Formats: sequence, structure tokens, C-alpha cells
Amino acid sequence: MRTLLAPSVHWVGVKDPELAIFDIVVPTEHGTTYNSYLIQGSEKCALIDTSKANFSKEYFTHLEKHLPLQKIDYIVVQHTEPDHAGCLREFLERHPEVTLIHSKPCKRFIQTLTNLPFNSMAIESGDELDLGGKTLRFFSTPFLHWPDTMMSYLVEDKILFSCDVMGSHFTSETNPEIFNSLLDEKDYLASIEAFKYYYAMIMRPYKEHIIKAFELLEKLDVQMIAPSHGPILDMEPRFFFDWYRARAKNYLLRLNGQKVTIIYASAYGNTAKMMESVKAGLLDAGVEVAVFDASSSAMAEMIDSIELSTGILLGTSTINAKAPEPILHLIANLVVLSMNGRKAGVFGSFGWSGEGIAMTERICEVMKMKIVQEPYKVQMAPSSAQLEEGREWGYNFGLKIIE
Ligand code: FEO
Repeated sequence: MRTLLAPSVHWVGVKDPELAIFDIVVPTEHGTTYNSYLIQGSEKCALIDTSKANFSKEYFTHLEKHLPLQKIDYIVVQHTEPDHAGCLREFLERHPEVTLIHSKPCKRFIQTLTNLPFNSMAIESGDELDLGGKTLRFFSTPFLHWPDTMMSYLVEDKILFSCDVMGSHFTSETNPEIFNSLLDEKDYLASIEAFKYYYAMIMRPYKEHIIKAFELLEKLDVQMIAPSHGPILDMEPRFFFDWYRARAKNYLLRLNGQKVTIIYASAYGNTAKMMESVKAGLLDAGVEVAVFDASSSAMAEMIDSIELSTGILLGTSTINAKAPEPILHLIANLVVLSMNGRKAGVFGSFGWSGEGIAMTERICEVMKMKIVQEPYKVQMAPSSAQLEEGREWGYNFGLKIIE
């Protein structure tokens, strides 16, 4: 198995082929890897990230085949999520003289993760570190995927260590190789699907930050992308940049668009009737409308529609003083999108007191959506006059979308 990215640049990560669910919510059909890289200059040595704590024994064994820990001068802590920084505490216990290189926001994360003192070197975008024939240039790329995230570029070898960005949860079941150029066609295609799925499930909420980061990286000559998960992308690195950039531009489509997604759950058809009048009002206002019945629509289609919508309207019935499962299930899946500031409203029919509507509205507020008008509520079946109110309610919401 090849582990050498370039002269004196080694992959020293670990594989986790058994992982079935990442971060509690992301199914990982092909397991994953926790990539860590060792760069040995003629004067100094640096490590890019570490690994997940559960794999510390394997990780340190792997690393110490190359050199004793005490010979490592720097660890570039690109991100403190414990899948990458989980071995940091043990590293500091065994070699407290090492210097940790990190973004400014990262320092507090390291302190709270390790609860140990450490030598700190905070970077800003463009700072360089000379290891002796190997120069690392650093970029602060916040929110990719946490506020602490940074990337590193190895100038002489044109390798971008991209952290979570352009990563994938993939490790081949049959092929030990970790470079995408060394995968067979079946594994290569599976790794591409895993790459796309990883974006959809993990990086998608951060589109505006991807656009900003890629502007920073624009002028780099990148011959190889070394992400923190999945295959090292030594074949067609440009494809992966371009694919990310094209998806991230969806953010601009939403900002410039006038679309509203309505998602509703209706036990006896009353909330569905209300939805029809709200939809008519939105169309009167001239906005584009997409409608989904939460109990029968594909989650991916609802999420894709919300992603491109300026506004979201949730229609909910109330069951046992709560919003029903299809609405709560949808809300749980909004974790893959950024909902901050998204214009929202809630409507629904109820039998006794309508707690499902208040509950849904409250959750929207906690998710930092902007509730732009009072809910549209009807007890039991909506009358003609109440349906007309709903049309006006939808119209007013539409005006707030195009304003
Ligand atoms: Fe792979 Fe955000 O950690």
C-alpha cells in the first residue's frame, strides 16, 4: 500500500471500515478514514492533524514507525472535531514540547478538548512555515466545517491539505490503496458517490464559506488534494474543486430567487385545504411555490427544494398536543442546511388547542429562522372565509419574499 504523497510526505492516518454512522446522523456505507499526514523537512517535522481517540493505539504505532514522537516539532491542528483531534491529548501528554499551529478561534477549542497547557502558534491566512525544503502556507477557512477550520498548502509539492472539505467517508473493502488514482473503476465510482454524499450531508450548510475559501485558494497550483477523510485526490483534483464550486453557487441562486417551499402534514385534510389557499396567495404575489406532503414525500426532494427557497412554510396538524412525526422528522433533517435568517411561517388546523403550531414555530425560531408573520390557525374545518384569510396570509408572506 502506497502511503507516500511526495518525497518525505507520508499518510499516517487510520482506516475505520466498520463505521456505520458518522456524527450520530450520517450513514457511512463505506466506512471512513481519519487522515493524518507527516511532513519531514530537512530541519523540522510537522504533522497535519491526528486521528480519532478510539484508534490511538493504531495511530501512534503507525506514526512511530516513521519517527519517535519527540522528533515532531509541530502539529497543525486544522480542526478540533474529535475525529481529527482525538489523539491530541495523548500526544501532548507524551510530548508536551510540541508546538500546535492553529487558527485564532481554534485555541479555545484545543484548551477545552485537551485540558492541558500547550505551545501555541496562531496563524493568519498567508502565513508560512519553513521546515527546510518544505514550506507550509496556511489559510484560515472558518466554518469548513467548524469556526476553527484551516487548510494548509505544501508549496514545493503543490499539495492542499483541505481538512473536511472535498473529503468523503470512503475506504475500499477490497483495495488497501488510499489514492484515488489507485482505485479500480468500481471503487473509484463508489468513492465519487461518497464524495457527493459527504458534501450533501456535511458541507452543504456552509456554501457561502466554501465560496470565500475557494477565492482564497484560487491562485494555488494544486496537484493533489489531501483531505481529512477518504481517498487522497491525486487524479483530477480540478474536478473536485469545480464540483464543489458549482454546488456552492446554489447559495447565490437562493439569494437571488423568489421561491417558497410549503411542507405540510394533514391528518383529516383540513390543513391540506389551508395549504391550497396559502399556495394560491403565494402565486398571487408572484413567487415560485413548491409543495410537499411531509408524510409521503422523499426527504431528499424536500431538502433540495428548501435549499433553494427564500421562504419556508410549515403546515402542521396537532396530535396529542404536539406536531406530528412527519413534521418533526423533516425538522431533524434540516441539520444539513443553514436555516439562519430564512423567512418562515406556520399554519395548521387543530382540534382542541393547536400546540403543534406553536411547537413548530418555536423550533423554527430556535433554528434562527425568521418568523415573519403570526401563524394562520383554524379550529377543525376551515370555512370559506377562513380559506380566504389563508389566501391573504399566503399573499402577505409572498410580498415579504419579493420585497
Ligand atoms: Fe471530520 Fe468536522 O470533522
